[in-house]
Amino acid sequence: MKLKAFAKINLTLDIIGILENGFHALRSVMVPVSLCDEIELEISENFEFYCNLPELATNDNLCVRAANLFFEATGIKESVSVRLTKSIPFPAGLGGGSSDAACVLKGLNMLFGEPLDEKALFTLAEKLGSDVPLCLLSKPALCEGRGEVLTPVDGFPELDIVIAIGKDRLSTPKVFREYDKMGLPIENSTKAFLSALKSGNIRDALSKTGNAFEPVTDILSPETKLLREALLSNGANASHLSGSGPSVYGIFTDEISASNAARILNDMGYFAVSCKTVV
Ligand code: C5P
Repeated sequence: MKLKAFAKINLTLDIIGILENGFHALRSVMVPVSLCDEIELEISENFEFYCNLPELATNDNLCVRAANLFFEATGIKESVSVRLTKSIPFPAGLGGGSSDAACVLKGLNMLFGEPLDEKALFTLAEKLGSDVPLCLLSKPALCEGRGEVLTPVDGFPELDIVIAIGKDRLSTPKVFREYDKMGLPIENSTKAFLSALKSGNIRDALSKTGNAFEPVTDILSPETKLLREALLSNGANASHLSGSGPSVYGIFTDEISASNAARILNDMGYFAVSCKTVV
């Protein structure tokens, strides 16, 4: 069985407080995009995990943890081979690892005749990470709580997106810590974005996109700011950091401008790819 594990981007990301469990309370509109990894699952005698990137072929990979959790929860004694082909940059704020894990959960459940209902699958997803439930849903959604409380956003438009990333890498916990130190005022871009989207005004909605981490990552990785500026000066209607970075995205009105911008950034020596929202 072959499955696509889609990357996600955060069109908005507000941090609205700290939860009792120490995680940050978020309000974010996350959207899957067509940039994806591939997961292949096959029943086998022993558990096997392969990845085209040797540094990711380890037992603490989220795919392995997802498979362990599935077999533990179902009591199924059979085993599988999991083959991961990575195309999503990492760590990037694109939910690549989370999406791979969500795909393994979903795929194993299909392969073994759906022993888990939707609620049980989402409970396992939550255990694997804050973004795994959204990746399991695989639809645009408002994500609250630590990211796991999902409200699907219906009627989301298909948008042309360019995803770009430079050489810097950022640690998610560090970005959250630095954010706390800066004591920034709470923004509410998510509510404004959703109400503009609801009234059908895409241009207005795009002007409300944003990410609360940008003042932090502009300092930790000036390259992220440079990439956003490069996307805007090459025709993007909006450009922001995705998740805690360091990937950024640009939103374009058509496929040709998106692929032109991706090519220009490639020529500048960056990873850049054009794709579409999965709606
Ligand atoms: O849940 P996940 O494994 O993706 O979280 C990685 C780290 O990001 C956490 O250990 C925490 O430091 C930070 N985090 C947070 N609040 C969230 C999500 C993540 O503080 N809502």
